[in-house]
Amino acid sequence: MGIFLDSLPMSGIVRIRDMMYTVKNPFRLDQGDVSFDAPESFKDGMRKAIDANHTHYLPTLGLPRLRQLIAEKLRTKNGIPVESDDDIIVSNGGTHGIYCALHAVLEPGDEMICPDPLWPPSLAIARSAHAVPVQVPVREALGFRWDLDELEKAITPKTKAIYINSPTNPSGGALTRADLERIAEMAKSRNLWVFSDEAYEDVLFSGEHVSIASLPGMYERTIPIYTMSKSYAVTGVRVGYIAIKDKVMRARAAKVALYTASNVCSIAQYGAIGALEGPQDCIEEFKTELKIRRDLFYAGLKDVTKGALSGNPPNGAFYAFVKIDPAWAASKGLDKGESLSWTVVEHIIKESRVGCVPGLDFGPASEGYIRFCTCRDRKELTGALESMRAVFA
Ligand SMILES: Cc1ncc(COP(=O)(O)O)c(C=O)c1O
Repeated sequence: MGIFLDSLPMSGIVRIRDMMYTVKNPFRLDQGDVSFDAPESFKDGMRKAIDANHTHYLPTLGLPRLRQLIAEKLRTKNGIPVESDDDIIVSNGGTHGIYCALHAVLEPGDEMICPDPLWPPSLAIARSAHAVPVQVPVREALGFRWDLDELEKAITPKTKAIYINSPTNPSGGALTRADLERIAEMAKSRNLWVFSDEAYEDVLFSGEHVSIASLPGMYERTIPIYTMSKSYAVTGVRVGYIAIKDKVMRARAAKVALYTASNVCSIAQYGAIGALEGPQDCIEEFKTELKIRRDLFYAGLKDVTKGALSGNPPNGAFYAFVKIDPAWAASKGLDKGESLSWTVVEHIIKESRVGCVPGLDFGPASEGYIRFCTCRDRKELTGALESMRAVFA
């Protein structure tokens, strides 16, 4: 593994983050960290755990009460037929959940079909399992959804799994129930696993969020992956969870969890219990505010960039994934480097102190796009837009 790690890239998001540390008074639209405060229920759970000295080892798979609450949430909110709390593995955020799931299922050389663009750590985690992520482009004209005929053609005898992320980071596209039903049919007829990364389940502005694991016969072959990071504004606390019905895969994922984390931080788990037992109002409040921020940013971007960066507000997640007008880039001499999106991103950061991430980082078909996070507070978004005005004048 040691030498092999040299071949795994550090995420470009991290490269940008390091760049942003050198910028004075930056606008941090590069990272998907919501600006909201965590709900009192989460914080109370953590405070009480500290006062009660809950600072000792815990069962690897999570506190029994937390696993019980998660199983109940998956049944009632997501419609997933979880029969036993034993199915639940509490993870160190969504990232660790993805790691446990992919390392349990994928064998060296297995192909994992996934979208282009996709959040880079998911690609790197598949590679770290010596598997091969096969990115199939989503189409902007389809609202950043797959052309499902194209998806089906990408399945080969080596395909072991399909990775879906709906709503998705970075494009904001969300799969419809009909999309999921067709993907479910493909998975069943070709005997494939599905990883369903639902980190943004609570950030869908219209329509219903559907977990593919809730469709008939799918929980048996799907590992749904969740995180509390975005829904409860606790990105730094690190609580996520996965559910696995298949006993063999669950036992494997449990070993990955054990040998990578032993257990998730006890204080964080008590916070999660507090959040799941408490009122869920913050989820709706966050979503309402995120929609306002999305609209504010897209309207401002249209005004400020005059079409040099363009796109339509997405239905989910909290990113603006916008296309660079090549003619504008050429007029500024920004089309000479190896990657258009990297050159433009570096120019924007240097000239306006606004963090953003190049499309290329999310997959080769996403070159020519840029991602901004629209989950920052309104003041930061407005400040960033004003600061970018001169770049596009
Ligand atoms: C698509 C996607 N999945 C999973 C995660 C992981 O979230 P966490 O911060 O809980 O590790 C993220 C975080 O940005 C994400 O964007």
